[in-house]
This record gives sequence, structure tokens and C-alpha cells, in this order.
Amino acid sequence: MTNIMDTDPNRVIIFDTTLRDGEQSPGCSMNLEEKLRVAKMLEAMGVDVIEAGFPIASPGDFEAVHEVAKVVKDAVVCGLARSGNMDVDAAGEALKPAERKRIHTFISTSPLHMSVKLQMEPEEVHQAVIDSVTRARGFCDDVEWSAEDGTRTEHDFLCQCIESAIKAGATTINIPDTVGYTVPEEYAELIRMVMNRVPNVDKARLSVHCHNDLGLAVANSLAAVGAGARQVECTINGIGERAGNASLEEIIMALRTRADVMPFSNQIVTTDITKASRLVSGVTGFNVQPNKAIVGANAFAHEAGIHQDGVLKDASTYEIMTPESVGLTANKLVLGKHSGRHAFNEKLSELGYDLGDNARQDAFRRFKDLADLKKDVFDEDIVALVDDEVMHISDRIQLASLEIKCGTVHQPPQAKLELRIDGETKACEATGDGPVDAAFNGIKSLFPHEARLQLYQVNAVTQGTDAQAEVTVRLDENGKTVNGTGADTDTMVASVKAYVHALNKLLVKREKTAPAALSA
Ligand code: KIV
Ligand code: ZN
Repeated sequence: MTNIMDTDPNRVIIFDTTLRDGEQSPGCSMNLEEKLRVAKMLEAMGVDVIEAGFPIASPGDFEAVHEVAKVVKDAVVCGLARSGNMDVDAAGEALKPAERKRIHTFISTSPLHMSVKLQMEPEEVHQAVIDSVTRARGFCDDVEWSAEDGTRTEHDFLCQCIESAIKAGATTINIPDTVGYTVPEEYAELIRMVMNRVPNVDKARLSVHCHNDLGLAVANSLAAVGAGARQVECTINGIGERAGNASLEEIIMALRTRADVMPFSNQIVTTDITKASRLVSGVTGFNVQPNKAIVGANAFAHEAGIHQDGVLKDASTYEIMTPESVGLTANKLVLGKHSGRHAFNEKLSELGYDLGDNARQDAFRRFKDLADLKKDVFDEDIVALVDDEVMHISDRIQLASLEIKCGTVHQPPQAKLELRIDGETKACEATGDGPVDAAFNGIKSLFPHEARLQLYQVNAVTQGTDAQAEVTVRLDENGKTVNGTGADTDTMVASVKAYVHALNKLLVKREKTAPAALSA
């Protein structure tokens, strides 16, 4: 076998796990349609490997990997598997339609995980590494093996497992910092140790996968690349288990901005970063904190007078990268009241939507309604509108109508609500402590459920008092958490849509039962 690094020794493979590790974090779940949109976006922005899910985890995960495998052509599509035969076979099956596929199999190698979580002896774990990689190679040539909790693994054992995984056919070896425990210099040293001690290490690409428990995921990933790792696993907006994973946009922009000290290449289209970030926060309902690097609302805002003055004279005084380089442009007026169907369809394609005839017509009708209500219609409005209306067309519960009565007069706010549930229209009148409470009580009376409201959040899609409101609702039912979003120029309508969206997601989630101990 030739040295895999021979082609370009400084090329870093970008492995995105938004759809797997990102989606695993509570409340981040996406439905199939949403996953496909994210996958297409990742492919368009030049991600090398898309980890699309964990096929054994649930029928929904299996289907998602299978469907992503059908539509993605340029990127490698990857499915995760524990070391058991059933896991590997499920990944192999789910990936069947993929043009370029990878099975990613893993097992814990740290003393703590082996004894407490797996209750296996190191020899058994070592054998499982060989067996799982060998089985995965039966499905495809591209196999990644991960040493879960790698940063807390004894070095001798780690090297032994890596050597055996490569011998069994693994082409990528991932050393995750599963619990976000390591620090940059230590992680870099670990990578150097593996490169120096594992005799066949040149037959595989070394990969890193960092969690952000100490806020060091990006720094650790970059330190590891400096030491010789040539694949970075990351997620859009840094979503993921607990404090999240290393954020793709931060890694890419650090590599680009500081190429002078990190001369590594990748093929990410950085101008797609803002679009990808908005897509992921839209479909997950996980808003990005305003001061988040690269994609936070304030990342390129210069409030302080002294900064503004400097930036106006020469942007480079306080800007180390331009907003345009991450695709951040001023709100663009896209269409108005008089725009026709043709212009609207062009805009949909430009925004990356590929809708069927009916969905396109629905979206156009919604756009016309919106243009009547709102003077200026921006890209963000179109995105919110399409996401809100068209993407939920197959939802079991849908809002039919809403009337709200509230004000300063001393009588409880009232909601008159109609929902279509499985095609049947049901109506009710409800009261509550406030208009939102009244509307949500109405939903509960039409569709009784035990889910608890955990978050209710309102954002404006654009600026101005005629802006659409984008509402996020988080519901929890027996530990299953979902986020729903809804957008409308009427905040109350947006609120009900968000709640109904969350309920629909919960219904899908109820149908899926994940096997125990999927602690990847
Ligand atoms: O954090 C982790 O160890 C993982 C592995 C499955 C790679 O997600
Ligand atoms: Zn992880």
C-alpha cells in the first residue's frame, strides 16, 4: 500500500459530524428532510466526509444515512458503528447506495471505559477492534477506526490497537478527545507519540475529534494538525454532545487567516459558512450565541466608537478577516410585491432549494402574502418562509387558524384555535395567563400530551417592526427533547407554529427507540 499522505502532505480532510454527533445532542434532532438539506449544503461547501448518522441507533437514523447516501455524490458519506457485527452490518447496508462510502467503527480503549462501560478486558477490546475493522472492510475500502476516550487511554494499548486496526484494513485512525479533557500541547504530543511508535502508521491518515468541555476543542484540533493529524472532525456551529464539538467554521477560518503559521490546505468554500450556520440553527432551533466566533451576530459588529473609527479608515485595523469571506453580506432586498413567479423560482434555486411543483406553488403563494404585509422581502425572509411552510407539509398536526383576544381590560386572554390533526380539523377556545399561554393551552386541549415546555424564544428574522418573528419552542417528554421553530409576521401565529412543529418532531421521535448505551 502506498503512503496515503504522498499526494499532498499538507491537505487536511474536513470530516463533518453535524448530522451524527451534532444531532445526538439533546434537542438538536432533525427530521429526514432537514438532514438532507444539511447534507446537500455540506457537500456544496466542500466538506470531504459527511458523517450522516448512526444506522443501528434507530430506523430513522438508518433511513437518514441511506437517503443521504443516495443524494450526495462528491463527498464521502459515512455511517457510524460500534464494534458489534449488527452495528457494522447496519452501517454497510445503510451506505449501499453511496457513490463514495466509509464505515466508521469505534470502541472505548481507556481503562475507565473498558472496565465500567464495556466491562471487557483489554484483550477482548483489542480483538473487537480487529473483528469490527475486518467486517467493515467487507463492505467498503474506506474504513475509519476510533479509539473512544483516546486521550485517556494508556499509550501502549492505544498503539497496539491502532497498529492492529491498520493491519485489519483501517485507512483512517481517529483519536478522539471524547470527554473534552486534553489541552493543546498534550494532544499534539499524543499525536506525535502515535506517529513515532506505531510502525504502520504511514498506511493510514490520523484524525482528531475534539469535544469542547473546556472550550479547547478548536485549539486542540489545530494543535493536533500541527503535530501531523490530517483529518479534523467538526460540526457546523460547534453543536454536539454536552459543550459540543470543534466548530467547523472556527477551524476553517483559523486555518485560512493564519496560513502563515498553519500552512495546511482544505477545499471548504468559506463564503458558504454563514448560510450553513443559519441552516443548521434554523433546523435544530439552536441559536448561535451573539458573541460566537465567525458566525455570531456580533462577530463582525464594531460598536465601540474607537473601533468604528479605525474600521472606517482601514478595515484591517480591527478586522482580521472580512465578513464577505464567510458569506456575510448586508441584508439584500430580493423581491417585492410585484415580483413574478420566475424571479421567485430563481431566488429559490439561488438559496439552494430544490422544491417540487406543489411545494414551489405553496411557497410562492406564501411569498405573495408576505409581500403584501411586509415592505421589503429579504433572503432571510424567503428562507424562513420556505422552512416554515413548505418543509412541514407532511406534518401530522398543522395550524388551520388562530384568533387571539388580549389587552389591558381585566379578562383572561383568549385563544380561538383550529388545528388539522391527521387531516381532521378540530377547534377549541382556551384561556391562559397570557396570549401565548392561552394558545398553548388550546393546543394541549386539541392534542393532549405530557410534554413540558422548556424554552420559548422569539427572534426577529430581519430588522424593522414589520419583520417576521421566528419563534423557537423546546419540548421535553420523558427525556426526549425536541426544538420546533415557526416564522410569521404575527408573533402569536409564529408561536403556535413553533409549538406544533415541536409536537410533530416529538411524534416522529416517539416512533424511534434507540438501543441503550449509544454513548458515542
Ligand atoms: O466523541 C467520541 O469519542 C465520538 C466517537 C464515536 C468518535 O463521537
Ligand atoms: Zn464525539
